[in-house]
Amino acid sequence: MSAPVRPRLALLLGVLCWFCSGSWVSSVPSVPSVPSVPSCRLQIPPHQEVARVARFVAHLCDWATLATVSSRVPVVGQPFSNVFSISDGPSDQSSGVPYLYLTPMEISVQDLQVNPVSSMSMSLAQTDFCRDAGYDPQSPLCAHIIFSGAVIQINGSEANFAKKALFSRHPEMMDWPSDHGWFFAKFNITLVWVLDYFGGVKTVSPEEYFKASPVPNRNYWP
Ligand SMILES: *[C@@H]1O[C@H](CO)[C@@H](O)[C@H](O)[C@H]1NC(C)=O
Ligand SMILES: *[C@@H]1O[C@H](CO)[C@@H](O)[C@H](O)[C@H]1NC(C)=O
Repeated sequence: MSAPVRPRLALLLGVLCWFCSGSWVSSVPSVPSVPSVPSCRLQIPPHQEVARVARFVAHLCDWATLATVSSRVPVVGQPFSNVFSISDGPSDQSSGVPYLYLTPMEISVQDLQVNPVSSMSMSLAQTDFCRDAGYDPQSPLCAHIIFSGAVIQINGSEANFAKKALFSRHPEMMDWPSDHGWFFAKFNITLVWVLDYFGGVKTVSPEEYFKASPVPNRNYWP
């Protein structure tokens, strides 16, 4: 490496490490031969900070399972679990609200039209976190959250935000068939259940959940 490059690299590393302070960790690779950018890794909040853990999981996950009360024969009244693409905001703008892009043609949406009450679940098993740490998805250490509440349609400025949130993380949505009656919706949270540690499930009220400091930018998750 030429001499003038080195100070600039040092400066870059310094800036990145500063950026990685707080809830971030940085590690400068110990193999010095080929200088590389340090891996800047978002760290899960401490398990005592239950609401922050929930916000962390909600911002990192791109999809969720949604359980509705089925309106379809032969399982009317039974739980019906399905997968949906979600986003709580663009990478650097976590709102905590899981937004959805739905069509009345979708089987679970037909349940929601009869009864909007539902349950949504997401897990860090959907990221590299649990795999890297060797946590089985059912281990409480593989943090997962369950929302109780209802799915409701949104309009106006909130729908504009939902569009930005969803289309930035699911770009193919922009090309979904225009004759399917797509609309924006949110999972309206009434209670948050958090499994991220031993000792049983913990609950967080929507107020605590939305007050908790969000993840600054999910792009820094490897
Ligand atoms: C949003 O707009 C749709 C269609 O215009 C309407 O049916 C629905 O009730 C509205 N929802 C809200 C929450 O205002
Ligand atoms: C939405 O959630 C709030 C609590 O955050 C609750 O008070 C309200 O009744 C819910 N609305 C619907 C339509 O589920």
